Amino acid sequence: MRELPVILGIKRKEVVSMLRIGMLTSGGDCQALNAAMRGVVKTLFEKEQKVEIYGFEEGYRGLIYGNYRLLTSQDFSGILTKGGTILGTSRQPFKLMRVPDEDGLNKVEAMKQTYYKLNLNCLVVLGGNGTHKTANLLSEEGLNVVTLPKTIDNDIWGTDMTFGFQSAVDIATDAIDCIHTTAASHGRVFIVEVMGHKVGWLTLHAGMAGGADIILLPEIPYDIDVVTKAIERRDNAGKRFTILAVAEGAISKEDAKLSKKEYKEKIRKSKYPSVSYEIADKILAKTGKEVRITVPGHTQRGGTPCPYDRVLSTRLGAAAAGMILEKNYGKMAGIVNGKIKPIPLSEVAGRLKMIDPDSPVIQEAKAVGISFGD
Ligand code: F6P
Repeated sequence: MRELPVILGIKRKEVVSMLRIGMLTSGGDCQALNAAMRGVVKTLFEKEQKVEIYGFEEGYRGLIYGNYRLLTSQDFSGILTKGGTILGTSRQPFKLMRVPDEDGLNKVEAMKQTYYKLNLNCLVVLGGNGTHKTANLLSEEGLNVVTLPKTIDNDIWGTDMTFGFQSAVDIATDAIDCIHTTAASHGRVFIVEVMGHKVGWLTLHAGMAGGADIILLPEIPYDIDVVTKAIERRDNAGKRFTILAVAEGAISKEDAKLSKKEYKEKIRKSKYPSVSYEIADKILAKTGKEVRITVPGHTQRGGTPCPYDRVLSTRLGAAAAGMILEKNYGKMAGIVNGKIKPIPLSEVAGRLKMIDPDSPVIQEAKAVGISFGD
């Protein structure tokens, strides 16, 4: 029951039939965020006449500080192909969620207050790993939460695929394709450094699609001698160039032995802007070969979503709307073996989906001669 305003002096009560949904995008952006929100909203409006959508600005920050705007179905029209997020986003680290802000504000309580003040039926959260930890926290605190898996890293546990990933694979592959022609002309060693945070999905897929000769992943620590031998083997076979696809989180066998703290300290003190520069230096020292580095960086998260991501995000969006209507809360809409599946947030939060070094895809890549430096 919701208290209605006094109309013509008569104060009435009525059963609330309006569906009130809060929505936010959090963490790094990626392609198809808008397409996913469109999928949710279009489905809700198809099935329910009375829906109010409250869009929180800049992720959890909007929920904490009550920055939102009431959106109409029109706001979600024409955004299927639009990159970025119409709501804006920000990174709000999970580990700081329980830490009061600079004015002493309790962020978790503030988020709950915004939710209750707006009388929301459900909060729809689109995000990656950190975002899912906070979504789970809010769910444990009693809010109705449904989430959608977004990230170019494809590292969210419980779903085979995240939207944004395939679009980023396209961009990173394009970068390797472009390097190919120059590498062939100059006979040099080239490194293309690919995003992906602590996992190598993006590098593995772009590397294979782009025909990289060596692929270095966080999941398979590399030995620099094996890497240089692979380069020399190509030389001896009369190949004029070598292309390495290196994940930003790639790690050497020696560094993999360090504790997390020791490794962080090494990175902090390192003279190299990223792992690729260290690898390039080592290749030069061991082979005398010129190495050029290309870092496509945030271009990998930009531009329009590829058709695969448009379809995936629309499917997941429609599924999330279905979960809301069925009151199937506290879950993420995931995709497993091609089928949409609601996955409990408690299972998703705090787990990383990494590449299994013994998986068939790695064996198949090795079978065609790709070196992983191991
Ligand atoms: O999680 C997506 C991602 O692009 C990672 O691949 C990368 O490590 C990180 O975000 C970059 O974050 P930021 O945009 O905050 O620099």
